[in-house]
Formats: sequence, structure tokens, C-alpha cells
Amino acid sequence: MKRLWIIANWKSNKTLEDALQWLDHVGPQLPQNDQLKVVVCPQMFQVEQMHKVVSEKGYPLLVGVQNLSQFSEGSYTGEVTSSTLKGIADIAILGHSERRKYFAETDEQVSEKVQQAKNNGIIPLTCVQDANTPISVECTLVAYEPVFAIGTGTPDTPENANQVSGEIKNKNNQVTDVLYGGSVDSNNCATFTSQENIAGLLIGRASLDPAQFVQIITNCVAHV
Ligand code: PGA
Repeated sequence: MKRLWIIANWKSNKTLEDALQWLDHVGPQLPQNDQLKVVVCPQMFQVEQMHKVVSEKGYPLLVGVQNLSQFSEGSYTGEVTSSTLKGIADIAILGHSERRKYFAETDEQVSEKVQQAKNNGIIPLTCVQDANTPISVECTLVAYEPVFAIGTGTPDTPENANQVSGEIKNKNNQVTDVLYGGSVDSNNCATFTSQENIAGLLIGRASLDPAQFVQIITNCVAHV
């Protein structure tokens, strides 16, 4: 089996109680497989508690964040630094199109965030809209997420997603894994992960439902 990332991006959804219930449902059903990297990215204040439960129960699950500060510690009101997240967050989704749109995040800021994550042992995942978005040379993990496909129910075609993923790798030698994100669900997931250049999925809405999320993993593992 090729390496496969299945990443849940919960965005600004779920209470802590809902989050822990999701974990109780999903955790025990996850297959033990070195090639499979399942990640959940809850809201920031839930990350530590979820990390604790995952460690205690020994679930094969990584816990990530949806953002982090471009700065190291200092006077940056409201920001959460990578050093605070060291040892708690395994991975950081950076430069999501919603952050670029609603919080005016720039490629330069995303690149600084990548550096902060790396400095603190957190794997950076840079989101790009197409093969032209700049990617820091420090970042090996990328998600291709065309804006028209996010939360719309209209995904890209697997063939086009595969082609763009190949272009991203050709233009950025350091990139080893490109994921696809945008209206992925349990019906279409394996059509993407079976593509040569696609190493996994970044999933928003369909990741909120624990049963559907487990079904996505099952379907993808059966088809790679
Ligand atoms: P969606 O979101 O699966 O709800 O389309 C994907 C994302 O924004 O990462």
C-alpha cells in the first residue's frame, strides 16, 4: 500500500463534548497500518485534551491544528505559538483558503508559519489553490484544494486533481506528498486516492460525522 493521509479538518465546528464522542467512535475502529496516517484537526482549545485521550488510549491517530502563529513568543495578542503546541500537535494545516480569504493570510505569512512549525517538530501542511501557489522549500506535504470545490458539493475531477498534483510535485522538488481536498465524501474518496499523484485527502464537512469518516478510511484503504 502507498502512504495515505486521511485528514479531518473540523474548521470551527464541534464542542469539546462532541469532539470526545467522535474520538470514542473513530479511535477504536482505526486500522493499525504504518502507511496510513489518520489526522484530526479540531479547534485549538480542544487539541491538548484530544492529544491526551489519543495517547492514553493508544489510538493510531495524529492530532493537528488548523493554524498557528507566524511569530515565536512575544507581544502578539491572541496568537498561539508553535512552541506552545510542541509535543501536543503533530501537524499544522497552513494557508487554508478560508484563512487567506477571511484573515488575509499571504504566501509570506504561510511560509513563516511553515518555519515556526518546523522549528517545533510540527509537520507543516501547506494548502494551495493551484500549481502556481508558492510553497516554502521547507514544506514537503501539500494539499491541493481548488476554491470552487470547498464546501460546495462539487469536487474537482479525480483526473484533474491528479494532474495538478503532478504539476505541484514537478514545480516543487521538495514536495513528497500531495493531498486533495474539496467536497470529498465516502462515495467519491477512493476515486481520488487511487490516482497516482494523490497521497491522501483533506476533508471538511464529511469528517464531522464519525461513521462517514470511518467509512472514508475503509473505502480508501480497500482501493490503494
Ligand atoms: P470540504 O472542505 O470537505 O467541506 O469541502 C475541505 C477543506 O476545506 O479542507
